[in-house]
Amino acid sequence: MSTDRKKAGKTIVAVLAIAALAAAAWQIRPLSPAPWTKAEIDVLRSLWITSLPPLAPDPTNAVAANPRAAKLGQQLFFDTRMSANGVVSCASCHQPQRRFTDGLPKGQGVASSKRNTRSIVGVAYSPWLYWDGRKDSLWSQALAPLEDPNEHGSDRVKVVELVTQSPEYREDYEILFGVFDPAADGAIDTAFANVGKAIAAFERLLMPSPSRFDDYVEALLDGNEDGQAAALSTDEILGLQLFIGEAGCTQCHNGPLLTNNEFHNTGVISFPGEVPDKGRVAGVREVLADPFNCSGNHSDSAEAECTELRYARTGAELIGAFRTPSLRNLENTEPYMHKGQFNTIAETLRHYNEAPPAMIGHNEAKPLGLSRRQLQQIEAFLGSLAAPLAPQIL
Ligand code: HEC
Ligand code: HEC
Repeated sequence: MSTDRKKAGKTIVAVLAIAALAAAAWQIRPLSPAPWTKAEIDVLRSLWITSLPPLAPDPTNAVAANPRAAKLGQQLFFDTRMSANGVVSCASCHQPQRRFTDGLPKGQGVASSKRNTRSIVGVAYSPWLYWDGRKDSLWSQALAPLEDPNEHGSDRVKVVELVTQSPEYREDYEILFGVFDPAADGAIDTAFANVGKAIAAFERLLMPSPSRFDDYVEALLDGNEDGQAAALSTDEILGLQLFIGEAGCTQCHNGPLLTNNEFHNTGVISFPGEVPDKGRVAGVREVLADPFNCSGNHSDSAEAECTELRYARTGAELIGAFRTPSLRNLENTEPYMHKGQFNTIAETLRHYNEAPPAMIGHNEAKPLGLSRRQLQQIEAFLGSLAAPLAPQIL
């Protein structure tokens, strides 16, 4: 009897010890990431940079794929002479070493822009430009800062004169678009649109290169375990599992550029004292009325090709909605969000974790209730998406 009791006692102690160990393991759980399911592997493949399709042609821009136009566009991108004060170029705000952003809450040109400068890497894949999508082509977008009193603060007459008359641009301009004839109908507007088309040809070349995350997916698909371990740490893998799982980030940050290029309200409030930004609901009205849109006279495409514009979604759910940014390379592009509201990724993730009600419209994101450790893991994963710009020869 007593030996039986002893045995039972030992069993209880052993069971308790195992339970305690299990509980401790659960606390710091999981020790190693669970293996990926087939469905998760499909998601990872869809986020892989190798899944990025070749860039579709832009029928609205006849020189979109012309290397001479790209070279001219590159020079114009860095040319401060297109600005009112002679010191602002596109690159003042879109600085190559900061992944074409500027490190400021809002862009600073001749005066202050209204929003945070977006990166333009991989932007050619988006049917809409700007946080509110008020432009529907890269070339038409490029015209806006030139005449924006806060940015270049210039005007189309001055810009056209520089590009069609100055010795370093004139020949390229004429080979690409023909001799500028100021007496022709709408000559200035046509030449102004051509300036945008050359800049757009350059911007189409700005692409991300593979990151450690992409190396990981490649190794995973190849069944190469050493490759996987070399590419991502355990924390980064756990963060990736949360990103595509519990945290629901791929609802909007999906595809190889980690954006659906769609408009969503994520409840990011404006700065105190600022009127809440209406976002897409105003942007869609602007793009439909824009003389430089896909259906306008300066587009090289047939009206029938403007399906994006014709079927542009409108409606109350777009109040306070902004275009989802790519998450490839967040390093060096702070502050984040449409007005640069958050200085760090950690702050951004705390916002998602709490998902406060929106000031206008309705926050689509739900509170996540993740632990600090889990948020750090997501942050670690986001860091693995950093990679230099893909090299381009011009
Ligand atoms: C004064 C700073 C400033 C200058 C100069 C400037 N930009 Fe921008 N750029 C911004 C800001 C701010 C945004 C976002 C504005 C918004 O969405 O309302 C932006 C957005 C863009 C976008 C859209 C990116 C996206 O993902 O939607 C492109 C493309 C772009 N700029 C290209 C250019 C080009 C080309 C030039 C030169 C002709 C230029 N920018 C000059 C500040 C600037
Ligand atoms: C409902 C769609 C949606 C979901 C879900 C979502 N995002 Fe976003 N994300 C956006 C939009 C839209 C913005 C820009 C919002 C703004 O500026 O007001 C954004 C901005 C960001 C930014 C700032 C990027 C920059 O360059 O400014 C980061 C980082 C980010 N999201 C990470 C995440 C992570 C991590 C998750 C999951 C926890 C997530 N997002 C879930 C739509 C979404």
